[in-house]
Amino acid sequence: MKTLFGKSFCPITEEFERHFQNYDEGFELGSQMPEFFLRNWAKSKAWLLNVFERIATDIKKDKSSESGSKTLIQHVLDNLHGNGASGYLLLLFWASQINALSGAFWTLAFILSNPSVYKNIMEDIGSVYGKAGEAKIEVFEDDLKKLPLIKQCILEALRLAAPGSIIRKALKPLKNFVIPPGDFLMASPYWLHRNPKYFPEPEIFKPDRWEEATLKKNAFLDGYLVFGGGKHRCPGRWFALMEIHMLVIILLYKYQFTLLDPMPKQVTANCILHCQYLDLFSLDT
Ligand code: HEM
Repeated sequence: MKTLFGKSFCPITEEFERHFQNYDEGFELGSQMPEFFLRNWAKSKAWLLNVFERIATDIKKDKSSESGSKTLIQHVLDNLHGNGASGYLLLLFWASQINALSGAFWTLAFILSNPSVYKNIMEDIGSVYGKAGEAKIEVFEDDLKKLPLIKQCILEALRLAAPGSIIRKALKPLKNFVIPPGDFLMASPYWLHRNPKYFPEPEIFKPDRWEEATLKKNAFLDGYLVFGGGKHRCPGRWFALMEIHMLVIILLYKYQFTLLDPMPKQVTANCILHCQYLDLFSLDT
């Protein structure tokens, strides 16, 4: 949160937590149904938007950044030119909390359900930090480069636990297709990631398929849509991969894990339905 919103950002009170939980729990329905049917959810959303409106005003008033370097959020607000600031901050807050945590969760689950991968990772971690669990460690960016297998596991876990759908509303007729304006279009990263044309043996967790990707040049494998595409592609993707990488290292170093249940055959996808923001942004893609 400090990295994203700046050092003084800390809206977390009990009331904030209650509304945020309510908002998150109703997100899937709330993004698809008129708010009239979900009064409680709409109330929490309005409450949160109000908080983020105040935060946006405070951030804009903060002149300290003019002399020094700007935080990410100040860049975001500059680029929005005053449009939909509270909605974007809420979206940023929600996306950074929910998606990255769920990414870390599935990465751990896949690592633990593949004992040989788990063993190799623990050896790698041991070679960088010494025997697991013994010291208090700090993880630096350079360490991440020494632990590429974990990054491959994250990308592979996200492939298998990708969002089920990304939805757009056609606002104007599309070239070469008969799609009436007003209709909804849906792309499914979840199913695309199970297409053997792009990912041979798609149902199998194979971190080494990522050896072929030129990650140094920030390129994913063809057909990888976990972060969406086009102009609304996830702006937090590199940040997410970095924070999941750090979190997984710290957790694996600190604790010994045992899976209580086998992995489910079909992993529940993160559900990211951002179409509720259609009214906050004039999306035209
Ligand atoms: C593993 C973690 C993450 C996954 C899988 C993920 C996935 C996605 C996807 C698929 C979209 C596009 C949705 C659409 O086109 O309708 C998206 C958008 C977005 N993500 Fe992420 N995301 C992750 C982490 C993050 C983080 C950490 C942040 C913030 C730091 C973030 C901020 C956003 C924002 C603000 C958008 C909306 C962009 C726009 O509408 O222009 N995401 N994300």
